[in-house]
Amino acid sequence: MTTLSSGPAAQILEKLHRDAEAADRQFTTALMAEIEASGQTLEQAAAGMIAEERENYRAVYRGHADKFLSVSPTFGRFLYMIARARNATRIVEFGTSMGISTIYLAAALRDNGGGHLITSELEPTKVARARAHLDAAGLADLVDIREGDALDTLKDVDGDVDLLLLDGAFTLYLPVLKLVEPRLRPGAVVLGENAFEPAYLDYVRDPASGYLTQSLPLDEGRGNEFSVRTET
Ligand SMILES: C[S@@+](CC[C@H](N)C(=O)[O-])C[C@H]1O[C@@H](n2cnc3c(N)ncnc32)[C@H](O)[C@@H]1O
Repeated sequence: MTTLSSGPAAQILEKLHRDAEAADRQFTTALMAEIEASGQTLEQAAAGMIAEERENYRAVYRGHADKFLSVSPTFGRFLYMIARARNATRIVEFGTSMGISTIYLAAALRDNGGGHLITSELEPTKVARARAHLDAAGLADLVDIREGDALDTLKDVDGDVDLLLLDGAFTLYLPVLKLVEPRLRPGAVVLGENAFEPAYLDYVRDPASGYLTQSLPLDEGRGNEFSVRTET
């Protein structure tokens, strides 16, 4: 048995995935219809979103304050499995939202025997909701939710890091990686969800940067990039 298979974390995740589906349905359906009508690929559509973020990412995410924008159950289980396989005890996350991915990662810490997860979220209402969800999951003692811009709140991550999840503003994946990079242990895993931004991909795919990297076939089209820190 694991923290994911039964008990409060499993129950709250089931509910949160249902809530996320209901809260985001209209947005997701409209977005997919717009992409289909424009004849764009997902990558081309992502380029449009990246351009919009470059203008003002805070405004973009303020507009999404009521949306979950969460990882899928498949990707969440994958996060849990990677954190277990890595025997992670120190995790950093960029982009908490309502705390769904955070719960998967904190569940892995619990089952690894304990640890610490630092996660960062811009929107105060999301921070409050994520805190309540982590409480309900019985995992709040493992998690430090830092409210504000990750460019500030993740500046002073101390101690070594086994796993970094990048799931915030697309345009900040590279600057956030650079902030946390000095803390990455050899063999640390960096997961970029919706990693579409060319500067980020060019960096992790350049062998000189010290990563082995691979795009994941998981949740096809969502731009999941899996990287392992090989040199420090
Ligand atoms: C895709 S959602 C994260 C979903 C979450 N990881 C999950 O699976 O439930 C992205 C989140 O990143 C937050 N965000 C965007 N830019 C940020 C920044 N600069 N600092 C902190 N959080 C940010 C947004 O407000 C949004 O809630």
